[in-house]
Amino acid sequence: MALERLQKVIAEAGIASRRKAEKMILAGRVRVDGKIVTKLGTKVDTFSNITVDDEPIERESLHTYLFYKPRGVVSTAHDDKGRKTVVDYFSDVPYRLYPVGRLDYDTSGALLMTNDGKLANLLMHPRNEVPKVYVAKIKGILKPEEIITLKKGVKMDKRKSAPAKVKVLKTNPKKDTQIVQLTIHEGHYHQVKRMFKAVGHLVEKLSREKYAFLDLHSLTSGEYRELSREEVDRLKSVD
Ligand code: URA
Repeated sequence: MALERLQKVIAEAGIASRRKAEKMILAGRVRVDGKIVTKLGTKVDTFSNITVDDEPIERESLHTYLFYKPRGVVSTAHDDKGRKTVVDYFSDVPYRLYPVGRLDYDTSGALLMTNDGKLANLLMHPRNEVPKVYVAKIKGILKPEEIITLKKGVKMDKRKSAPAKVKVLKTNPKKDTQIVQLTIHEGHYHQVKRMFKAVGHLVEKLSREKYAFLDLHSLTSGEYRELSREEVDRLKSVD
């Protein structure tokens, strides 16, 4: 079971900022399972009974959403340049959600939004190899040997990408472009764009069609839906 720091749990219950929660703890206003706790960083679990000034706190329930991120939106909670963020789409949701990983500003597609830190960490851990399906419109047409290189793993800067699945969906010889489906489980910065660049092709358009077993059917750009308990359990089973 997840153990969390007491001040974090109090802050997440929406009672006070983390700094203020720390002060409350130090002032002896917080009890865990009936006992006053003044040590910062005390670990509590989901079943710990926590009170502030003898009032039980409400633990924030955990929620995960599948979001169809539009292009032209940043995947962070705040943007220095004042651009629209993925969080802006969830103004009706009373939870503090953040994205599981990132999609580039100009990439659209499936993005999970959650307030479940444990789930986010699990999904982002490279060991768990969550498959992600991308569809890229690339400049130029892949040569057979380039497809093999992409499949086997391509050298990007110092690192070699893990083996990928590659499927050419459409070729437009007139425009000299191709639509390619790429399935990978890594999530390094600009991973897909860098993989294609490494074999000599520029990505003109990119979307993520699928994250794990979750695809975007039933959603249009900018929409989201909450995942069912079964879907969340299935995501957790990647471990
Ligand atoms: N790879 C990229 O290059 N960009 C994304 O947004 C996601 C994967």
